[in-house]
Amino acid sequence: MCGIFGCILKKGSASSLIHASLKRLEYRGYDSVGIATLYNNQLQIKKGQGKIDEVHQRLNLDDLKGTIGIGHTRWATHGAPLEINSHPHIDCTNKIAVVHNGIIENFSELKSELENNGHNFISKTDTEIIAHLIEDNISKNPKKGLADAVLEAVKRLEGSYAIAVISTIEPDKIICARNESPLVLGYNEKGYYIASDIPAFLPITNKALVIKNGELINISASGYEIKKIVDSTLVSREPKIIDWTPEMALKKGYPHFMIKEINEQPLTLRNTLRLQDHYLDLISTFLDRAKDVFLVACGTSYHACLAASYMFSKLAFLPTYPVYASEFIEQHGKSVNIDSTILAVSQSGETADTLSSVTCAQQRAATILGLTNVIGSTLTRVSRVYVGQQSGPEIGVAATKTFTSELSVLAQLALRLSKKRGKVSQDEMDHLSEKLETIPKNVETIISTQANKIKKIAKKYKKAKIFFFLGRGISAATAYEGRLKLMEIAYVPSMAFPAGESKHGPISLIESGIPVVFICPKDGSHKTLISNIMEMKARGASIISVIETGDEIIKKLSDDYIEVPAGIPEILSPIPFVVPLQLLAYYVALEKGLNPDTPRNLAKCVTVK
Ligand code: AGP
Repeated sequence: MCGIFGCILKKGSASSLIHASLKRLEYRGYDSVGIATLYNNQLQIKKGQGKIDEVHQRLNLDDLKGTIGIGHTRWATHGAPLEINSHPHIDCTNKIAVVHNGIIENFSELKSELENNGHNFISKTDTEIIAHLIEDNISKNPKKGLADAVLEAVKRLEGSYAIAVISTIEPDKIICARNESPLVLGYNEKGYYIASDIPAFLPITNKALVIKNGELINISASGYEIKKIVDSTLVSREPKIIDWTPEMALKKGYPHFMIKEINEQPLTLRNTLRLQDHYLDLISTFLDRAKDVFLVACGTSYHACLAASYMFSKLAFLPTYPVYASEFIEQHGKSVNIDSTILAVSQSGETADTLSSVTCAQQRAATILGLTNVIGSTLTRVSRVYVGQQSGPEIGVAATKTFTSELSVLAQLALRLSKKRGKVSQDEMDHLSEKLETIPKNVETIISTQANKIKKIAKKYKKAKIFFFLGRGISAATAYEGRLKLMEIAYVPSMAFPAGESKHGPISLIESGIPVVFICPKDGSHKTLISNIMEMKARGASIISVIETGDEIIKKLSDDYIEVPAGIPEILSPIPFVVPLQLLAYYVALEKGLNPDTPRNLAKCVTVK
């Protein structure tokens, strides 16, 4: 995710403080950096593509004059990672500079409106429209202050944003506003600091004040004023004294990146619902025309593809073939051809097995489509069309938030394709789209209500010599992912199968007390699943079930159960149902004294074949 920092100093160089503070936000992931300051009533801007040290080497970020400024590290969502798209962005008159973290959903229509009003744009970003909106407001009401012009502008924005604005119009102020993307204020006797995250200014001050959703803050060297965007009512809030170490601050106070990222899923799932229609439509058009569709990935991303094969089949009647990337060339290298379409899924966009599969398919004239979390990654460069899942950087080696985002994007693609093919009624489409919008809240509920119960289950079974994960239908993909998490993070030997497969061999492993995790959405396979549970129970297994709230039948059959909100459609169920399995793996690892962030033998991105 992008990083923002701004400061108003009583004296000294704003640009060198911004430079140093942006370095402390590097962990958020980024591909370009920029700084703007105000001096002699002029905007001074330096920005470029690349890491902070590289850009500083080229441009010397510290020599911008002035005691007030804003800076930004960009994690590309709209527009490639190029200098022209890096922040700060300015208006036509070069009097207003804006930095932004988030996704503006309605930027296309606002951009057309502003272009019709004579505004010229130079970047492909959604952010640039904010600078022109503010300029437009000021030109319509010159007597309005900068804060009012920013207030009017953000009222028109739909989506997530944390912005900081400076301008020659009022060169002693920074105006910020927030909706969903994080924003915190720090201050001490030397000045005021605004940032995406506390680590940016923790070495300078431990006095922090969170800006909440729907608030605008007007900062000057003598103080600040917070007001509600909706009705301009003033807000007063006491600062908190932060007692985190800088290391803890990087994890927002969580002990590990993995648990931080599991908890980020409501936000990242909301961001994943704000993708650009254009790319989703384009990819679904290619899928619609395809003769053979291969879903190619590794590890967790492969499990997303496995789930997607059920989504595409059930919703769009499109047959797709999920294939392990490491096997693709052996299995399909000779048969893939000009009529084939490859949808490669890779959160890093750099996994060697996935990229070599893509290269092989490309050499045989297949169409390459990409789904990734990293804009500018190799996969984005080799894909005919790609879509960014917008999960923000994932530091933990275990894929958690990127998995649920991949599932959300794939579900959105399946929905679009089914609409294009007229395979489901408009009512069913609307129902599924509404349910997809409720998923972030469902995940929030699961984390807040079930985490303690899952901790107890982890404690109870931490010595188990083997775990089983079973599910039917699309829940088989969820079971495979739950198994991978427990294996890679807690080093517990685990098995996963479609529940119907157990009696074809694996059930011979069942002994008394062996934990068997069943994934039990109330879908078409619920009834058959009950008999699978009975089979395992009859052989002494300990039944741990992930059920919908109110599923009294399976609750009674279970030794332990975890509840997720009821009413989630089958094809969306892997998203909420996997969250308890992520937490189970995390808490078993803690019970075993392991560090979930750095599992042995594993790398976050496997760039070797
Ligand atoms: C998942 O927890 C692992 N870190 C691993 O299986 C990962 O999903 C796999 O290496 C694929 O990575 P990618 O999505 O970046 O291609």
